[in-house]
Amino acid sequence: MHGPLTPEQVRAFYDAHRTTRLYQTAEDGSPLRMSPEELGAVLHAAQRAPTDATAQLYSLIHLTAPELRARMAELTTNAHIATASEAFVVCADARRVGRVLEANGYVPGHWPAIGVHFGLGDAVMAGQNLLTASEMLGYQGCWIGGVLNALPEIMETLALPAGVLPFAALTVGRPAEQAPLRPRLPRELVVHTDRYRDGSPEELRAGTEVMNPIAARGGRPGDWALLLSRYFAQGGAMERREPQLVAALRAQALWAGEE
Ligand SMILES: Cc1cc2nc3c(=O)[nH]c(=O)nc-3n(C[C@H](O)[C@H](O)[C@H](O)COP(=O)(O)O)c2cc1C
Repeated sequence: MHGPLTPEQVRAFYDAHRTTRLYQTAEDGSPLRMSPEELGAVLHAAQRAPTDATAQLYSLIHLTAPELRARMAELTTNAHIATASEAFVVCADARRVGRVLEANGYVPGHWPAIGVHFGLGDAVMAGQNLLTASEMLGYQGCWIGGVLNALPEIMETLALPAGVLPFAALTVGRPAEQAPLRPRLPRELVVHTDRYRDGSPEELRAGTEVMNPIAARGGRPGDWALLLSRYFAQGGAMERREPQLVAALRAQALWAGEE
């Protein structure tokens, strides 16, 4: 190991991150798997993530069987699950800690909202460590929230028991496309000093301008607000996902609301 990186090197590492959906494959289109050493290193990175209350409330389902990869690609409507070097479903897991307690003679408590809060936090930290470690090895990847398109089918396909909730899938592979550096909102809309501050409508529209290129497709200029509206506006995809997620939380015994 060398000494600490310079600020410029840190920026350069994070600017090299590009969500990538097209991967190098074998000639027949099958995945070029990571070497055992590479896979071991990125899984090591995942498990080195910090974890609230020491509990490690997450599980990774490593998708290896080609038929399962194909099925998950279909269920999530993200074809690159089939072609990635490695693919995972990153789950919140409030189950294992209860089993550890039982195995040691304790009675697990009832804390479904805590399970969701700690579980998703731990899952994201482990998954993002896995992704950045893969990037250090020359891979790129893609988080896949498309798991929310078919939660019941995915939970059944992966045999997820009560207490385990998929957060997202995560693919990594050697890039076969040059993805662009995608913009982010101006920092002053995201980082607040000492207390929360609402951006003014003018600032929010200026931020929208900055973000527009992320929605550009096939040479046409992008419209980020339109893209967001398809997800988050009235009648958008998130309103359709909402009852499905609530149903999944209930099915996995992670619903903390009224019965
Ligand atoms: C939780 C999460 C879910 C995502 N879901 C999808 C997805 O289902 N399909 C996809 O192609 N990209 C997905 N993405 C990738 C985002 O579109 C991408 O991160 C964003 O456009 C910013 O691009 P960048 O990562 O290259 O900077 C997801 C990203 C995150 C963090």
